[in-house]
Amino acid sequence: MAIHHAGVSGNSSPVKDKRCRKTWQVKPSLMANNTLNPIRAIVDGMKLSPHPDKAMISLSIGDPTVFGNLPTDDAVLQAMKDAINSHQYNGYAPSVGYLKSRQVVANYYSCSEAPLEAEDVILTSGCSQAIDLAISVLCNPGDNILVPRPGFSLYKTLALSFGIEVKFYNLLPEKSWEVDLQHLESQVDDRTSLLIVTNPSNPCGSVFTKEHLQKILTVASRNCLPILADEVYSNMVSPLDSFPSLASLSSDVPIMSCCGLAKRWLVPGWRMGWILIHDRNNIFGSEIRQGLVKLCQRILGPCTIVQGALEGIFNNTPQGFYDDTIHFIKSNAEICFNELSTVPGLKPILPSGAMYLMIGIDIERFPDFQSDVDFTERLVTEQSVFCLPATAFEYPNFFRIVVTVPEQMMLEACGRIREFCQRHYRPGRRDKNDLDQ
Ligand SMILES: Cc1ncc(COP(=O)(O)O)c(C=O)c1O
Repeated sequence: MAIHHAGVSGNSSPVKDKRCRKTWQVKPSLMANNTLNPIRAIVDGMKLSPHPDKAMISLSIGDPTVFGNLPTDDAVLQAMKDAINSHQYNGYAPSVGYLKSRQVVANYYSCSEAPLEAEDVILTSGCSQAIDLAISVLCNPGDNILVPRPGFSLYKTLALSFGIEVKFYNLLPEKSWEVDLQHLESQVDDRTSLLIVTNPSNPCGSVFTKEHLQKILTVASRNCLPILADEVYSNMVSPLDSFPSLASLSSDVPIMSCCGLAKRWLVPGWRMGWILIHDRNNIFGSEIRQGLVKLCQRILGPCTIVQGALEGIFNNTPQGFYDDTIHFIKSNAEICFNELSTVPGLKPILPSGAMYLMIGIDIERFPDFQSDVDFTERLVTEQSVFCLPATAFEYPNFFRIVVTVPEQMMLEACGRIREFCQRHYRPGRRDKNDLDQ
């Protein structure tokens, strides 16, 4: 058999029978083409030209650092400085994270109902990578996952890029965004590999009660569905003691709880997250754990300096920092809710956690607009206030407001939204009768 070494031994002429490209064919991969961020797709398609006489107020980005009014705690910064100065965190860490840092996270979250060891923790680049790993270790192309509607758009972005189908289950606005359990169960089929539960919720700001979480677990257990519990807003709830983690209530359903530093410690740019593996009945078992390790080896773990800072961050951040953040968010959410409750055509839903508020638009009373996208676009043009249309969360005729902005800005924004609605609202027959009386 002839062995050809084209171009190796000075012979540069191409081997005749070897099939190779004669022209450049450099194209984005299928995966790249199938990766779509719905928020970007919607926002980039909007004509966002603010009113020239009004300063822009953006209530759209879920980044608590943008206005500078919610700095992280000094202890968090000090922990980072100490990690750098120690010179101990400049090399490669194990791809799942330093054992010591995983132990620190395990200690922080471990409780008698849901005990954790260092081996149950995988450190990731933000909660986003935790979600990416959980989906990709549990699902194959052609499988489907159950995702809340309205819900955080990343689940769909990731799933579709892996060739995984997304099935939505409804949340009920009239029940403080609880899960429609019947609808949830009706979506399950034999290719359903994962149920995603977001609690507290982005975009709803809702927090499920213990009883409701137990009902979700019953559905998951009956259908043998593992759960990805997206708890990146864990403990960002009011009252403070009302947040049970899903895993603390589960006796049999295996759960990957995904979380991170981004929101509670107000440092989303540091890109530190983790998966907590709760598997008391050994259903994930060693195979899934090894699968996670293999997937982590693609990237070799998150930033080592932040890993090194975790101990100081968890141990030294004063309780007052967490309390102040929650107090600020709660107060701002109440201001926004109270202001917008009396605006004609709007129906805000009071949140109890995270940092968002969803507002329903009685779109029939606004004939100038065809959709929430239209409505929010014109709100920018006329009032320089930008809110995210909830079509971005698969939930038309709502919009989402981020409540981490400074209080004065929140009040100003609400005033402008009122002016906008008063201008465009058209009362229905019943309203007219009320006015006539
Ligand atoms: C529900 C939810 N999960 C996950 C994330 C991603 O978090 P991270 O910035 O740590 O990747 C976000 C960010 O906004 C979120 O709202």
